[in-house]
Amino acid sequence: MTEHSDYTVSIHYDRRLYRQDIAGSKAHAAMLARQGIITQDDADSIIAGLGQVQDEIEGGQFPWDPSLEDLHMNIERRLTDLIGPAAGRLHTGRSRNDQISLDMRLYTREAIADTISALRGVQRSLVGLAEKHAGVVMPGYTHLQRAQPVLFAHHMLAYFEMLQRDIGRFTDCAARMDVLPLGSGALAGVPYPTDRHAVAEALGFSEISPNSMDAVADRDFIVEYQSAAAITMLHLSRLSEEIVIWSSREFDFVRLADDFTTGSSIMPQKRNPDFAEIARGKTGRVYGSLMAILTVLKGLPLTYNRDLQEDKEGFFDTVDTLLSTLRVFADMLPGMTLNAARVESLAGESYMLATDMADYLVGKGVPFREAHGVMRRLCQHCESAGISLSDLPLSEYREFSPHFAEDVYDITAAASVAARDNPGGTAPNRVADALARAKTILEEAAAT
Ligand code: ARG
Repeated sequence: MTEHSDYTVSIHYDRRLYRQDIAGSKAHAAMLARQGIITQDDADSIIAGLGQVQDEIEGGQFPWDPSLEDLHMNIERRLTDLIGPAAGRLHTGRSRNDQISLDMRLYTREAIADTISALRGVQRSLVGLAEKHAGVVMPGYTHLQRAQPVLFAHHMLAYFEMLQRDIGRFTDCAARMDVLPLGSGALAGVPYPTDRHAVAEALGFSEISPNSMDAVADRDFIVEYQSAAAITMLHLSRLSEEIVIWSSREFDFVRLADDFTTGSSIMPQKRNPDFAEIARGKTGRVYGSLMAILTVLKGLPLTYNRDLQEDKEGFFDTVDTLLSTLRVFADMLPGMTLNAARVESLAGESYMLATDMADYLVGKGVPFREAHGVMRRLCQHCESAGISLSDLPLSEYREFSPHFAEDVYDITAAASVAARDNPGGTAPNRVADALARAKTILEEAAAT
């Protein structure tokens, strides 16, 4: 060991790939024996030895040695201690370059499965909230200004849709990376009669990589996972922001369960939405890791370069951050109580019905632009008079347009919501359809 030798060491983080590395080695050894490249006896002792290595790692007795740099060398050394010279035959027709590419793919495949199931968990919680408060009308916002009434369930299902797209992105990533790189050797292929298809089948890959140089140089799947993760965090961060705003005294729309708030060390009245804030904050590191991997890859000539070792820490951190954030949300959302009385009373606030009143005039034959102008003047008038639209006498309405009649008072938040009765709208029957669709998606996902 020299003064700087720990600079290149990766064992403290790549050891988390031990299961994937061992599974890949077992499949490789079995294939080598079947192809007559090594003897069956050697393969048997390699496979048994690898089993023992795995037990030692899982039992916490494995003698990790940083001077051996990485996971592959640590496992090979231990295998040699356990079974002797036969261990030296495992690396026949293989390089650490195709080996690490395999390990990372196997790891990413599991990470994607875990991520999708965690995303489903958040979707279930969103659907649960939507169902629990199915009829509640709340103010919908644009520019964070009260805009039009919407169903709370519609708002929750908007996030369901975002996460549904996220699942699509992770699913795409899994399909594209479903390719076995092993058999590519260091970069040019291997001079042994290997059976790559058999290894692919043993490890659950649909295809083998068609180009050995690409296979050892490619980390697109890491970039894709991290891109999809960045977008998911973006969505969770927007939801976090809403939760932070909604749980403020100013809004007072929701109350988080005690487990998901913390008090202040000096201000006893406070219930800080720390989990939502931390989720919003952690979005930054996930974006950072995405920028890091893109930057690592951008200048690399073919094929393997040691820079590629820098693909791991940011990626593992992204997987950990995303999974923990999704699991927090799945548990935090069901315990969030909605202040239905407050959101409904705000939704009924008359200015939010100004668009509906313009639509009402349209119904009486007034062109929309003109109706919009009438309502703008009416809102200005009411605001300066300090009264609400619903308290304005009909005679005054009629000064702004002769088309107003007694039925203008029938325009309520409930009527406004019910009027948006087209696909994707917030009318209760449309939202009920959307909820049914969401539940079907979740049931079908659970069944597969
Ligand atoms: N630790 C290396 C990595 O993560 C493994 C592959 C090393 N290959 C090599 N030719 N040095 O990329």
